[in-house]
Amino acid sequence: MLSQETRTIIKSTVPVLEQHGTAITTVFYKNMFEAHPELLNIFNHANQKKGRQQAALANTVYAAAVHIDNLEAILPAVVQIANKHVSLGIKPEHYPIVGEYLLKAIKEVLGDAATDDIINAWAEAYGVIADAFIGVEKDMYEKMETQENGWSFFKEFTIVRKEKESENITSFYLKPADGKNVPVYQPGQYISVRMSIPGEEYLFNRQYSLSQAAREDEFRISVKRDADNDPNGRVSVYLHDELNVGDRFEVSAPAGEFVLDTKKDTPVAFVSGGVGITPMMSMFETVATLTPERPTAFLHAARNETLHAFDKDIQKYVAAMDNASYKTLYSDQPQGYITRALLEEYVDITGDVYVCGPVPFMEAMIQELRALGMKEEQIHFEFFGPAVALQTA
Ligand code: HEM
Repeated sequence: MLSQETRTIIKSTVPVLEQHGTAITTVFYKNMFEAHPELLNIFNHANQKKGRQQAALANTVYAAAVHIDNLEAILPAVVQIANKHVSLGIKPEHYPIVGEYLLKAIKEVLGDAATDDIINAWAEAYGVIADAFIGVEKDMYEKMETQENGWSFFKEFTIVRKEKESENITSFYLKPADGKNVPVYQPGQYISVRMSIPGEEYLFNRQYSLSQAAREDEFRISVKRDADNDPNGRVSVYLHDELNVGDRFEVSAPAGEFVLDTKKDTPVAFVSGGVGITPMMSMFETVATLTPERPTAFLHAARNETLHAFDKDIQKYVAAMDNASYKTLYSDQPQGYITRALLEEYVDITGDVYVCGPVPFMEAMIQELRALGMKEEQIHFEFFGPAVALQTA
């Protein structure tokens, strides 16, 4: 338990730290990576360049500190982040490193204003927060290890099929290189892939949603090829252009909380934009095969026909289902957007809706669904990239 004095210091200094947030976290990452360059094998270098992860980690530490008396209150956020951490193989021994450099950065940026009392209070608070994460992550690793065909950290997989789904999305079918089956995963979960790219000093990690209903013996990811000059696109370009059947890379066990509740038989709708269709494919295929009588709607927004993936697969499932509707809008065409009227027509607001796509698309959809009267607990979504959602949700 933190003392009352420590808590008072924490709460009174959060606004100061937030005010200097960017400076603190920039110094933190720079110094940490200088002292521990091996961590660049774990962190997304592109996120670092854009300063996105900087904000996410520090903001969460501050948010957690505010709730230090009652960390239960932020447990959902902790669990979401912990999923990302275990997918990337973050270990307990990493936490003191992050703590050390975060405190040093606070000291460096605040200068004399950072008294010993303040630094000690934050050291204590960070310890409590880190322990909460370590505990949640330990349970997750244990579950991954004990699940049938499960594993923790990374394991080698082989590309067994590579299929083009649209002009810029290609599916990769992956099997464990040790010949085992894969664990059963929940529709909507993702994996991390980790690979070394020729000419690059550090390993690259990326998360991709599993894009088909659980199969016994394989995973499928469907990857959008980013632009050649997009630093975040390094892995997608390498996968598309250089990797083929027989090539191998490492994969972590499925993780993530943005999942379909397969026990329900109430109406469900999927609303996706662009490559946000990938987790929807896993969820939709699961509904189509397990509960084909479930009232289901699938609304998708693509730029145009050539960039529209999985159209035939969805149509095939819809035709075999009892009560399913499907519509795609092309934004290159006039009136090619998913409007409130369209949502009203397709989405049964008494059920659940799953939304995935680029951030502006998701914000617009969520706003419209709320306006139609859907409640928070009925609207499920996942933002791509670091959890900026924490602030906007
Ligand atoms: C991602 C918070 C400790 C490595 C994240 C995200 C948050 C966060 C908010 C974004 C989650 C998302 O994208 O959904 C924290 C907090 C920590 C902590 C509050 C301490 C209490 C660590 C440690 C490591 C680590 C010890 C490893 C050294 C990462 C990595 C990502 C991540 C690699 C993925 C994003 C990227 O690659 O840039 N963390 N984290 N974190 N965290 Fe942590």
